[in-house]
Amino acid sequence: MRISIREPRAGDAEAHRAAVLRSAAHLSPWNPVEPDALPELLRRQGAGLRTYLIVDDDEAGQVGGAGGIVGTCNVANIVLGRFRNAALGYDSYLPYAGTGRMTPGLRLVVDRCFGARPQGLGLHRLEINIQPDNDRSLAMARRLGFRHEGFSPRMLFINDAWRDHERFALTAEEWRGP
Ligand SMILES: CC(C)(COP(=O)(O)OP(=O)(O)OC[C@H]1O[C@@H](n2cnc3c(N)ncnc32)[C@H](O)[C@@H]1OP(=O)(O)O)[C@@H](O)C(=O)NCCC(=O)NCCS
Repeated sequence: MRISIREPRAGDAEAHRAAVLRSAAHLSPWNPVEPDALPELLRRQGAGLRTYLIVDDDEAGQVGGAGGIVGTCNVANIVLGRFRNAALGYDSYLPYAGTGRMTPGLRLVVDRCFGARPQGLGLHRLEINIQPDNDRSLAMARRLGFRHEGFSPRMLFINDAWRDHERFALTAEEWRGP
């Protein structure tokens, strides 16, 4: 498998929309299903938010295929200064979800976050916040080497309610590389 990450561009909007629509049932218990989100995400890219697409390079060029977009990862709430911290949010898409592609993709994102500027984001700490019943995401955070830090009651407004979250974190010193 050849998995890579790259920043999204306007030309990805249609493939991204198709991927989200195909994946609605997979995403909806845990995250909003937003097929038209990419143009707005592109507008918001900047000092506080960086988005990466996780791509299967062998699938990306195939005519009539699923486009190779394995998933999306937002590096959100980026704060520099003495904190150099951000929160990761991610979704994988059918038909790639659960096929072992998202994990190496997220490892590349974490590595980019901890990498020195200007190629990397120069961050020191990353958080992942996960609803307590989201077993696949809890397994993902642990697979990436994140530490369980604590429990945050009523932290994020998802699916019409304030949802409790388990908080995981990783610092640059703990990262062993992709
Ligand atoms: C959480 C989420 C991103 C995980 O992504 P994923 O697509 O399952 O990621 P991967 O396929 O890389 O995960 C590896 C899993 O595939 C399995 N797998 C299947 N084939 C594999 C292969 N060839 N190599 C490695 N692992 C493989 C692994 O056993 C592992 O399963 P496990 O989690 O039961 O241990 C995805 O489930 C998702 O988008 N969920 C809905 C939205 C969501 O919850 N987002 C996060 C909110 S905090």
